[in-house]
This record gives sequence, structure tokens and C-alpha cells, in this order.
Amino acid sequence: MGIRTVREIGDELLRKESKPLKEMNNRTRQLIRDMFETMYAEQGAGLAAPQVGILKRIFVVDIMPDGESQPLVFINPEILETEGEVTDNEGCLSIPGKMAPVPRPERLKVRALNEEMEPFTLEAEGLLARCICHEYDHLQGILYVDKALTEPVEASE
Ligand code: NI
Repeated sequence: MGIRTVREIGDELLRKESKPLKEMNNRTRQLIRDMFETMYAEQGAGLAAPQVGILKRIFVVDIMPDGESQPLVFINPEILETEGEVTDNEGCLSIPGKMAPVPRPERLKVRALNEEMEPFTLEAEGLLARCICHEYDHLQGILYVDKALTEPVEASE
């Protein structure tokens, strides 16, 4: 495989709830590799499995803190706690070229499984917390436009 086609808003699959992943196998490992490849190719900070047509509770994130790649895989994630609220512009590879302001928690604690199906918890804030919430929403069939304060507008470069 490699770079996969990203589904865009209007595609009914993006509105479905994804199902928990029961076990890791080679097919899912390949999916995760492809999700990273697709996300980097499209210059996104996160990508959820339903965006590439797979209704499984998996997302990948890399916000490149300090310009360094820091790839994170979240399988069957649960957001345990949130705190505060920040509104900032948000975009999505499934809504190309657009952005809108979305309120999100300032901080959160998330529990998930990694690629080895080992549990971990992570405390995140700022852009990483925003990204985790956005990708988590994809697993619920929610897009950022559902929560945005205004209609999305053309993103300026
Ligand atoms: Ni998105």
C-alpha cells in the first residue's frame, strides 16, 4: 500500500462510529504505516482510520514539537479527564483548504493502546491536546465543523 486516499466531508463513512480494534495483525500494522505516510504527505498533524475508509478506533498524531518528528499511535483511546478551554483555528485533511475556530480542552489525560497493544496514559496540552480531541472525534463520526464557532473559511497560507 502506501499513501491512501483521504475521504472528504460528504462521505457517509466519516459520519459512522468506529469499532474497537481487538487484535494487532500485519494488516493493521500496514494500515498504521500507511496512515503516517498519508498524514506526512498531506502535511497533516493527525489522521484517523475512518478518514482512510477503515472504521477502526485508531488514530495517529505527529505535531512535530520543536520541529522534531514525534509519531504517536492511539488505539481504542479513552479521554479520561479534560481541563480548561481554548479556542483556536483548526483544519482537517477531510475538509481540505479550510479552517475555523473550535473550542477544545486546554489539557487532557488520555488512555490508549500503542502499536504493540500495550496500554499507556498521556497528559497533553495545547496543540497536542487539540489534535487528540479532533482525531478522537473522527472515531465518533464527528467533524470539527460540528463544533466550530463559525463556518469554515479558506485557510491562508
Ligand atoms: Ni480531521
